Amino acid sequence: MTTQPRLVLGIETSCDETGVALYGDNGLLADTLHSQVAMHAEYGGVVPELASRDHVRKLIPLIERCFADANIQANDLSGVAYTSGPGLVGALFAGVSVARSLAYAWNIPSIGVHHMEGHLLAPMLESNPPNFPFVALLVSGGHTQLIKVSAIGDYELLGESLDDAAGEAFDKTAKLLNLGYPGGPALAACAEKGDPNRFTFPRPMTNRPGLDFSFSGLKTFALTTSQKNELDEQTRADIARAFEDAVADTLAIKCKRSLIQTGLSTLVVAGGVSANKHLRITLNNMGKELGTEIFYPRHDFCTDNGAMIAYAGYQRLLAGEHDKLSIQARPRWPLSELNTPQRN
Ligand code: KG4
Ligand code: ZN
Repeated sequence: MTTQPRLVLGIETSCDETGVALYGDNGLLADTLHSQVAMHAEYGGVVPELASRDHVRKLIPLIERCFADANIQANDLSGVAYTSGPGLVGALFAGVSVARSLAYAWNIPSIGVHHMEGHLLAPMLESNPPNFPFVALLVSGGHTQLIKVSAIGDYELLGESLDDAAGEAFDKTAKLLNLGYPGGPALAACAEKGDPNRFTFPRPMTNRPGLDFSFSGLKTFALTTSQKNELDEQTRADIARAFEDAVADTLAIKCKRSLIQTGLSTLVVAGGVSANKHLRITLNNMGKELGTEIFYPRHDFCTDNGAMIAYAGYQRLLAGEHDKLSIQARPRWPLSELNTPQRN
């Protein structure tokens, strides 16, 4: 066993945020982020080629900023962690290439991290982290999943979306209401002015057993409602509110079902949509009723960030895992294929 303190550089480039952070034996030492939102906004969504190029431009300056913030140098590092999937393949490759090259030059190990493992471990960065086992609700732009988490790497998929992810449904509904990109926060802001009693949207797949989701119908419901009514500002807000209520209720119903089914009393909610205030209120009410303790990441760590990748990479490197010589980016990667790291 080495007594030298461990410190891991984490790099996240799976989509439209470049995240870099340092996590080690003394916790989170630095965390920087560059969001590409302004660059993609004029196209109404993420343009993959622009995303890749921007990651390449921003990574080294962000790494330098992290080193300066934490007052460390490359030889203080014991490893480099990066997101190796799932995500946009060009964006992933930008992170993989920089991370692997730096690790090679610095003669330290590197480790590819599963992006969704990063999200689900993000609450571990808080001062009151959850204990295993727990149920995790992962709600991001690409995934909506309920997972039984017994330990790091021990993931049992309980249910998932059969079509659009929750974040994707937020983004598409925001687009059809002309609320712009990124859709989730824009729709949430618009919904605050909405009347919850004007429209009622369905709670898809809640009146049959099982833990899978389907959100694409809600977007269609929003479209037909917007076509049947004059789309003034109030109507837009009322539709946004009805949509948000339906997503929040549906997620809460399925979370409750999964907690009862597994007999667990701890719920972790992570991924971009976990930043949604209304969802948190709805889930907290469900948690109170059931006696469930609910853990969320801090607001900035709900969406993509380097800290969650540094944390997950630190845990896996600590257990002696590291990359083989080949370089791999995995645009598709089931979370259930991961293993639990074995500490020596
Ligand atoms: O986790 P994330 O940053 O990236 C992925 O891994 O996909 O999640 C991004 C998603 C987007 O769909 C975005 O619209 C949604 O999270 N999102 C929100 C909110 N903030 C981000 N959805 C609803 N309410 C929010 N406040
Ligand atoms: Zn994400």
